[in-house]
This record gives sequence, structure tokens and C-alpha cells, in this order.
Amino acid sequence: MSLLQDHVILVTGAGSGLGLGVAKYCQEQGAHVIFTDISEDKIQQLKKEFSVDTLILQCDVTQIPDLEACRDAIINKYGRLDALIGAQGIFDGNIPLKQMTTTHLDALFNEIFNVNVKGYLLSAHIFHDLLEATKGSIVLTTSTAAYAADGGGAVYTASKGAIRSLVNQLAFEFAPNIRVNAVAPAAIGNSELKGPKSLELDSQKQSDIPKDAFLGLFQSISLLQELPHARDYGAIYAFLASRQNIVMTGQTIVADQGLLNRTLLTQS
Ligand SMILES: NC(=O)c1ccc[n+]([C@@H]2O[C@H](COP(=O)([O-])OP(=O)(O)OC[C@H]3O[C@@H](n4cnc5c(N)ncnc54)[C@H](O)[C@@H]3O)[C@@H](O)[C@H]2O)c1
Repeated sequence: MSLLQDHVILVTGAGSGLGLGVAKYCQEQGAHVIFTDISEDKIQQLKKEFSVDTLILQCDVTQIPDLEACRDAIINKYGRLDALIGAQGIFDGNIPLKQMTTTHLDALFNEIFNVNVKGYLLSAHIFHDLLEATKGSIVLTTSTAAYAADGGGAVYTASKGAIRSLVNQLAFEFAPNIRVNAVAPAAIGNSELKGPKSLELDSQKQSDIPKDAFLGLFQSISLLQELPHARDYGAIYAFLASRQNIVMTGQTIVADQGLLNRTLLTQS
């Protein structure tokens, strides 16, 4: 029997990058996956790629009516939910705090925390009763930025630190019926992670960075030296989302290619 046979799994931020790779992996493992994303273009693309039987919904995780409509659609089609995988996120452009005006900082904070933190909280709140009923699982996405400096600017870093703490609290509040864990990737090769509107950086994407430069930098500092693609994270998310996981809750798996395992005294 495959790992996720008979599991119904909602993935938020499944339009590209990590969420898409993880969602596809979960499907391959036998799950019924509900693909959701804020981007209308990405939703249209997914509808072309997958069969009409796949539930693909435009859903902005910061909007309660969108999440409620998604919940209704899941109940109508499947009558239950076994796991929520949160993969949405936006980047802060890595601008040092001192280089922003206070007004920019104010707007940036609201924008980043809205998607990167409130989106996860609202999703957990709206789907927790369905997950209680199936003794289900929540898997959120943080980052190595929650553990070490220079993984983004101060606002992105704080938002990822918030997720790291949130899994502890949600695991406590939702025990014993829902397991809550997170994954902290370091880098994702095929990410389209966008910058913030508040700094007029929303047309910038991580995929704009020349591949060789990004790969070179990552290889020079990580132990395993490969730049992972979204799908490479699939097995970790799938295990945490599955009924096989009866041993972990309140934990974050740092999936960083050994990035945080070294102090830079030597250069390989
Ligand atoms: N790219 C990296 O190197 C990296 C490293 C560590 C962690 N992460 C985290 O991984 C997650 C996925 O990012 P990615 O790199 O795959 O980027 P991505 O942009 O390819 O994927 C994120 C998806 O979230 C969607 N999204 C944005 N706002 C949304 C909203 N309000 N509601 C619903 N969907 C929304 C986007 O449209 C996009 O499809 C993020 O949480 C990011 O912080 C990324």
C-alpha cells in the first residue's frame, strides 16, 4: 500500500515551487490532493495539467471567505480532510532594515506577516475540526532563516521564526488528535518566490537569479552540495502528513543540505 493511499490532503500555495512539487509527490503516493493558490494564472495552468477530477481552487489564505469556500468544496467532494500542508509564502526582498523608511517597514511587515504567518493561522483555524475528525496532520513551512541570519531580511526572518514557534503551540493546543509539524528548507532550485508589493519588488522572483550563481553559492556553503528541487522535499512532507507518523508532533525538520551544520573556518 502506498504511503498516502486514501488520504485527502490540502496544499496551500501549490501553484509553483515547493507547494507544487510536494503536492505532486503526495499525489504520486496515492493521496487525493486539493491544489490551491492565490494566483489565477497558476490555477489556470494547473487546470490544464491535471484531470477534471482534481480539485484545484483559487484561494488567498489571507481571506476568510476564500478559505471557507475551499472548506465547503472539500466537504462536498470528499467529506473529510486528512492533512493540511501549508506552503505559501512571499519574500521581503532581503533589504536591510536601515535602508527602509519607517512607512515602508510598516507596510512590509503587514504584507509579509499577513501571508507568511496569518495565512497559516487562519488555515489551521478553519480546517482544525475536519482534521480533528480524522486524527489528521498539519505540516507548515518555515525556513533556515528561522535559525540563522542572512536567509532574508529582518521581516521575512521574523515571519519564519514565528512559524517555528507556531508549530509548538498548535501541536500543544490540538493534541492529541492533530499532529502539527513543520519543514525548514534552505533553498529550492525551481522556486518562484516573489518579493513584496510594499517595496515594489513583486515583479522580482527567486527564479530570476541566474541559476549558476545561485547553485555556485549554495554549493560553496552546504555539505551535500546539490541545490534541491521542490520535489526533493516531497518525502519529508508526505511522511509528516501521513498516518504513518505517530511519533512526531511540535517539531520542525531542518532540511538544509547540511547548511547549518558547519562553521566557516575552511572553504571546500
Ligand atoms: N525559495 C527558497 O529558497 C525557500 C527556502 C526556504 C523556505 N522557503 C519557503 O517555501 C515556501 C514556498 O516558497 P517557494 O520558494 O516554493 O515560492 P513560490 O513562489 O514558487 O511558491 C509559493 C506559492 O505561494 C503562493 N502564494 C503567495 N501568496 C499567497 C496567498 N496569500 N494565498 C495563497 N497562496 C499564496 C504563490 O502564488 C506561489 O505559488 C514559502 O513559505 C517560502 O518562504 C523557500
